[in-house]
Amino acid sequence: MALRKTIVAPSLLACDFSRLGAEVERVTQAGADWIHCDVMDGHFVDNISFGPAFVEAASRHTRLPLDVHLMIENPYHYLPRFLPLASSITSHVEANHDVSKTLAAVRDAGLLAGLAVSPPTPVELVKPFLGQFDILLIMTVNPGFGGQPFLTSMLAKVAEAAAWREAGAFDFHIEVDGGINVKTAAEAVRSGANLLVAGTSVFHAQDAAEEIRMLKNV
Ligand code: DX5
Ligand code: ZN
Repeated sequence: MALRKTIVAPSLLACDFSRLGAEVERVTQAGADWIHCDVMDGHFVDNISFGPAFVEAASRHTRLPLDVHLMIENPYHYLPRFLPLASSITSHVEANHDVSKTLAAVRDAGLLAGLAVSPPTPVELVKPFLGQFDILLIMTVNPGFGGQPFLTSMLAKVAEAAAWREAGAFDFHIEVDGGINVKTAAEAVRSGANLLVAGTSVFHAQDAAEEIRMLKNV
C-alpha cells in the first residue's frame, strides 16, 4: 500500500508524433497526472528525440504539468528554453554541468527541480545534493529509447532513496522511468517510488484510461 498518492506521467516519446495534439489530449482525458517529455540531444544519449518547440506544441493541448526530462549535455545552457513551458525539469547527475547551479536555477524559476541517475551510476552520487532537488529520477532502463525491459536491479536504489526520505530531513518525489507497466510499477511503488513514467504501456494500451487507473492503484 503506497503511503503517498501515486502520480502517473505518460511519456510522449511513445506517442504518435504525427498526431501530437490529439495524443496529448487523449492521455489528459484518460486521467494522466503529469505529462513526461523526454528531450535527447544525440550526445548524452545515442538518440535525438525533440526539443523545446515540440514541448511548446504539446503544452497547447493540456493544462497538466509538463515534466521535462533532459537527457542532454550542458543542461544549464538550455534551461531558459524550457523553464516557461514546464512545471518540473530534471537533469542528469552524469551530464556535464554544475549540478547545484542547474537545480537552483530551476527552483528559482518556481519549478520543481529534478536530478536523474542512469542505471550504471550509484545512487550515492546524488547524496551530496539532498535538499537541493524535489524529484529524484531513478532510471530503470538505460536512457535513450522507449520500449526497453525494466531493470529489476534498480529497485535497490529506489529503496535506498526511500530510506533517505524516511530518515526525515528531506522530502522529494521518487520517480522511476523505463519499462514501467502494472507489474513493474507495483514493484517500484513497494520499494518507495511514487512518480511513475510510462511510455509504451500507456500509449500502446488498448484502453489508456484503464491502464492509467491500474498504474495509480498498484
Ligand atoms: C528513456 C526515457 C523514458 C522512456 C520510457 O530514455 O527516459 O521516459 O520514454 O518509455 P517506456 O515506458 O516505453 O520504457
Ligand atoms: Zn524520461
